[in-house]
Amino acid sequence: MTNITISQSLGSNEPNEDSQKDSQATSQKNQRPVAIVTGASSGIGRAIAQRLAAEGYDLAICARRSDRLQAVAESLRDRNVEVLAQVVDLRDEAQILSFFTAVENRWNHLDALVNSAGLGHKEPMMTGRTEAWREMLDVNVLALCICTREAIRLMEPGAQGHIVHISSLSGHRVPAIAGIYSATKFAVRSLTETLRRELRAAGSPIRITAISPGIVETEFAEKYHQSTAKAEETYAQFPVLQAEDIANAVAYVLAQPPHVEINDLLLRPTQQES
Ligand SMILES: NC(=O)c1ccc[n+]([C@@H]2O[C@H](COP(=O)([O-])OP(=O)(O)OC[C@H]3O[C@@H](n4cnc5c(N)ncnc54)[C@H](OP(=O)(O)O)[C@@H]3O)[C@@H](O)[C@H]2O)c1
Repeated sequence: MTNITISQSLGSNEPNEDSQKDSQATSQKNQRPVAIVTGASSGIGRAIAQRLAAEGYDLAICARRSDRLQAVAESLRDRNVEVLAQVVDLRDEAQILSFFTAVENRWNHLDALVNSAGLGHKEPMMTGRTEAWREMLDVNVLALCICTREAIRLMEPGAQGHIVHISSLSGHRVPAIAGIYSATKFAVRSLTETLRRELRAAGSPIRITAISPGIVETEFAEKYHQSTAKAEETYAQFPVLQAEDIANAVAYVLAQPPHVEINDLLLRPTQQES
């Protein structure tokens, strides 16, 4: 029976007495690996959370929409894993830190972080709104860095751990209409290699992977184009990737033996030309 905790209280980062007791009790009985998935309320993040639960991971999931997060947590009810779901706006560092403190209090260790949360706004370089650019940079780049730093802090020194960034094909080539979004994913590509080099220099066994999908049918296109019709057009042009295809890739990457580090996995729908 899945033990679900939905937390919307985003108060102090200090662990309270109850949560410390909870942590000790849980860490004594828990033998399962623990994974964090950001952006788990929809699309790729949701599919990854569901797949990792099926693989036997206890899960900490976050996003802003509490009803969606609750629905995802409920969907994991039969998986016999523990789920901590917390409402987090990744633009706010204090909320991110509160979430990682909750994970630390619950499990006191971490095996995998999947940075899936992200968004695109169709806001060109020539005319785009600064606040839309800032949101993309805050979530796709800065929050990914903060989550990664906090995850490494929770991964036991000398123990295996894995960071997975959901990047994009747009981090490998610049589409005509990608604007700042593509730049954020080029940043993720650079940050992946930066972290790999830091980890190797530090003698850490933690592995780092970027997964770079082409078109995936999620809520992404509707938000990007601000149009349901445009999103339907995007996903109807040929058989596009499904969120489960990306979840399969994450499971594949995490299942590799310790001496194999997949650094970038690029997936396109077979018929996607560019
Ligand atoms: N779909 C594609 O074609 C495609 C292709 C390549 C790469 N990607 C990448 O895949 C990742 C997932 O996107 P998706 O396709 O699954 O789109 P999606 O269905 O729109 O999911 C985006 C997720 O990010 C979360 N999120 C956005 N802003 C947030 C914030 N400020 N705080 C917390 N969570 C936030 C959303 O949750 P809330 O709204 O509930 O906060 C949602 O769970 C993104 O990094 C995207 O760049 C997508």
